[in-house]
Amino acid sequence: MCGIVGAVAQRNITPILLEGLKRLEYRGYDSCGVALHVDGQLRRSRSTSRVADLEQQIDEAGMQGFTGIAHTRWATHGAPLSHNAHPHFSPSADLARIALVHNGIIENHDDLRAELSALGYVFQSQTDTEVIAHLVDHMYNGDLFETVQQAVKRLQGAYAIAVFCREEPHRVVAARQGSPLIVGIGQGENFVASDAMALAGTTDQIIYLEEGDVVDLQLGRTWIVDVHGKAAQREVKTVHAHTGAAELGPYRHYMQKEIFEQPRVIGDTLEGVTGIMPELFGDGAYAVFKQIDRVLILACGTSYYAGLTAKYWIESVAKIAVNVEIASEYRYRDSVPHPNTLVVTITQSGETADTLAALKHARGLGMEHTLTICNVATSAMVRECKLAYITRAGVEVGVASTKAFTTQLAALFLLTLTLAQINGRLSDEEEAAQLKAMRHLPVAISAVLALEPQIMAWADDFARKENALFLGRGMHYPIALEGALKLKEISYIHAEAYPAGELKHGPLALVTEEMPVVTIAPNDALIEKLKSNMQEVRARGGQLYVFADVDSRITSGEGVHVIRLPEHYGLLSPILHVVSLQLLAYHSALARGTDVDKPRNLAKSVTVE
Ligand code: M6R
Repeated sequence: MCGIVGAVAQRNITPILLEGLKRLEYRGYDSCGVALHVDGQLRRSRSTSRVADLEQQIDEAGMQGFTGIAHTRWATHGAPLSHNAHPHFSPSADLARIALVHNGIIENHDDLRAELSALGYVFQSQTDTEVIAHLVDHMYNGDLFETVQQAVKRLQGAYAIAVFCREEPHRVVAARQGSPLIVGIGQGENFVASDAMALAGTTDQIIYLEEGDVVDLQLGRTWIVDVHGKAAQREVKTVHAHTGAAELGPYRHYMQKEIFEQPRVIGDTLEGVTGIMPELFGDGAYAVFKQIDRVLILACGTSYYAGLTAKYWIESVAKIAVNVEIASEYRYRDSVPHPNTLVVTITQSGETADTLAALKHARGLGMEHTLTICNVATSAMVRECKLAYITRAGVEVGVASTKAFTTQLAALFLLTLTLAQINGRLSDEEEAAQLKAMRHLPVAISAVLALEPQIMAWADDFARKENALFLGRGMHYPIALEGALKLKEISYIHAEAYPAGELKHGPLALVTEEMPVVTIAPNDALIEKLKSNMQEVRARGGQLYVFADVDSRITSGEGVHVIRLPEHYGLLSPILHVVSLQLLAYHSALARGTDVDKPRNLAKSVTVE
């Protein structure tokens, strides 16, 4: 995935930039580049090969400089070719005044491209990034920091950028929204990077920039303004990049860090998805998808709940029948196999013994069309299945799965659209609309993460309880199950989830004033039915904690606590709602003082039966 390094110093920074790129190589990339301020000019070197080759190229050209930026690119807009590699220059390669690198996706790049083309800018690449370089050049007023603050107001989508200018040789300006970016403070020199790891060995004094921050890096001076343009003080942390503490960054636990990584890792998981392409699931996927007329999903725990959510999506959008089975049950029960089944295993680790055994059982029954949604490309599960979609959640350290789950959902939604298209159930308009909504997910999730302070206030109530009920309807019922599992796993509060209509068939007997009832209330077709179920709870004195969409007209009152999410997010709404439940579980556990990342009796990867 894309990585950024930038520096302003009084020594040759080329080795620092290249070392930073090498440290970011683990993310995966298909091209890389460096731009430097050299003798009053901007110079750059780019390569579609490894960083080591770029280093050789730079050595041979004798490129050295005191100010510059560097990038590893994982192609999204535009093929992985040299002219699409970053840094991008503006107004042109020969007369370069602005150099810029970018991580993320600019959603309004088409409009900006048309506007800038009309102003005479000639685009050299197919990237969404080049529009930012030209925009900054067009708006440049002699002060790069001011210019970037104005320019980013025109951008929609997710970005981390670093930029420098021919006219201001000792300055790098950087900004972030929806993609991570850190600042490294040195002795009379300053740095920027997408990950503290990139600066290991250069500085351990790290600032984690917040959403909307713009930073001005000069020699011996770092100045940050927030999203409103106000001066912002950000804590400088000492980060030992090779220790666990370094990876934890500003967070108290890995689980919290991983919850907050979701905008980025969902973006990473969907990077490169420019349209519905069956081959994203592997070579020969189209032929396999063409042959199947039903789906069997096999998984455990949180991954099983991802499968349950996918059943709602695939049956309603692709009109293909889906059966979801708990792997440990499926492997031992008599079932009715059918050769035209697509067997989908879902597993974060790719090593879960029950899921691997269930896959083998399904194959033994003659079902040969196998696909895995997995987070570890080198795992046994990927090796065992014909097809694979690798989620890009990165290493998940917390035992309670968070980012692995939402990236699984993102991949499963893509599978839904792919099957729908092959099945003739997806119009061009619907495809475009759903892809747009998927690309916007990182921004939409960031808005849910901003609710953390309100959710923390509820967590104190939960910490004092021993039981909780979770209610959801339709495709949010699996999300209620996942919310209950998260609370159980890390806070040890007993929690159960029900489809809200099922309450009156039994669990209502549990409801008293002591019972918190968490209700997922998206503004969908079932909202009025859900409101009736909520009345049933209130009539028995139960305390409702409602996660409502902003437009669902549910208000707080006696025994009814409401937190409002952004407006209803259609089919992708489960991905937003589960983030609020993850935060509720995390802060409830924190308030109870449990070992959040290593809950008792549980292991991260369950490789035994
Ligand atoms: O690695 P897998 O996705 O196959 O793991 C499946 C479950 O063990 C896992 O999701 C488990 O339920 C987590 N602890 C949930 O937070």
